[in-house]
Amino acid sequence: MISLALTAVFFLAWETAGGQTKDPLLFPRDNFTVETKTVKTSAGEKKVTYRSYMHIPYVANPVDKDFESMNVSVPFEVDGVVIDAINAPILFVIGVGGYMSVNNMRGGFGGPPASGNRVSSNTDLALAAGYVVVSPGCRGRDNKATDGTYYGKAPAAIVDLKAAVRYIRHNKGVIPGNVNWIFSTGVSAGGALSALLGSSGNSQLYDSYLKEIGAADAKDNIFGSACFCPITDLEHADGAYEWMYGTIPGRSGLVDQELSKQLKAFYAEYQASLNLQGKNNFGTITADNYDKYLLQYYLIPSANKYLRGLSDEKRNEYLVNNKWITWTAVGAAFTFADYVAHVGRMKNLPAFDDFDMRQPEPILFGNKTTNASHFTNFSLQQSTGDKNAEIDNDLKTAVNMMNAMYFIGQNISDCVQYWWLRQGTSDNHTSQTVIANLATSLENRNKVVNTFLYWDAGHGADEDAEDFITWIGNVTGFFK
Ligand code: DHB
Repeated sequence: MISLALTAVFFLAWETAGGQTKDPLLFPRDNFTVETKTVKTSAGEKKVTYRSYMHIPYVANPVDKDFESMNVSVPFEVDGVVIDAINAPILFVIGVGGYMSVNNMRGGFGGPPASGNRVSSNTDLALAAGYVVVSPGCRGRDNKATDGTYYGKAPAAIVDLKAAVRYIRHNKGVIPGNVNWIFSTGVSAGGALSALLGSSGNSQLYDSYLKEIGAADAKDNIFGSACFCPITDLEHADGAYEWMYGTIPGRSGLVDQELSKQLKAFYAEYQASLNLQGKNNFGTITADNYDKYLLQYYLIPSANKYLRGLSDEKRNEYLVNNKWITWTAVGAAFTFADYVAHVGRMKNLPAFDDFDMRQPEPILFGNKTTNASHFTNFSLQQSTGDKNAEIDNDLKTAVNMMNAMYFIGQNISDCVQYWWLRQGTSDNHTSQTVIANLATSLENRNKVVNTFLYWDAGHGADEDAEDFITWIGNVTGFFK
């Protein structure tokens, strides 16, 4: 009994005396600067005072600590009122764009841009709401060592983000905030990584990579995921793009119609294989009925919200300029073809795995010694002229490890319950089926999915940032 008590005392003494220096992954809670910022909310400006921790390495064996480190902001006073963030939600801000690296030595927050000038970005709004904001850096497709090798190709970014989540968990009780209420948020490629982080929790597929960089031995599932215009499901995105934009002329006219049809056929096959069930007994969503589904559940509601929010004068003006929309007592009506023509085609064919390998995605799927690789059989076959060419197994695994849809479909990982999905209706960076498939696959697995498309908004839009912050407070029960 006595020896047990002595052992306990000894252990505690080790923890407080030697433990701090021995654990390379201990959050340095006393090492901060005090900063203030003014946050614009719809209820006026708020002055937030917060502790700022910069460039905290989150792995023990970083490949490059400039990237594998995080900034943490902990609010402690809002408009002169002292608050305690000890049990607050943690907003985990993925600042990745274009699948590029995020260098934390350059500082600053990532996250969605300010939505107009009306309110601040969701990261600043989170601070003003008393949440902890964590901004991890991570490797990306552009990272190149002095010896010419690449060190940020897929799946490096998601491995780093998981390591950052593990670091937070590892520091439970030391780092302020509730480590069981981590919400990721990101835009575009960052939105795709947010979806992936949310859907691939604790997957063993990443274990060896995490071990290699000395990630904390902790869980990496999170609580909620916000995905703004996620550029995900990359290996199926070329076909989905042709499904939507195949017959719409781009900047250099119509794309090759024969190849467009082939890609569209691959997409139709893929869509059927997902076996996704639409809302309200719509039945299985297919390439043939997806136009109707998008109109009914996403596009018409979005147009209606927008048009009903306008004054009669402004609405009339909008309708005069958009004769493809009919407006009656029941709301807006238009065809999918007119909507797609209104948006217009942005990318070439193939939209992602392009033949010249200049798009972000082939460069994402390079490896240590190769800057860019085709990651779909279609583009590989077209480029090589070899009709039997196939991408190799290592690449196939890397492609899976970057795709939220893979994890949701396989049901092999811990998938978060709470999802916030947003995209502009005029965002032509990927097909609108990508976000709708993400939403539907989650809904079909009984997740709580809050999805909305902002009417006429382009890439990166975030028009209801305050609602997002309120939603976090509500689903956690932090706002009582
Ligand atoms: C992003 C945009 C793209 O069109 C794309 O293919 C990949 C990433 C982005 O904005 O992050």
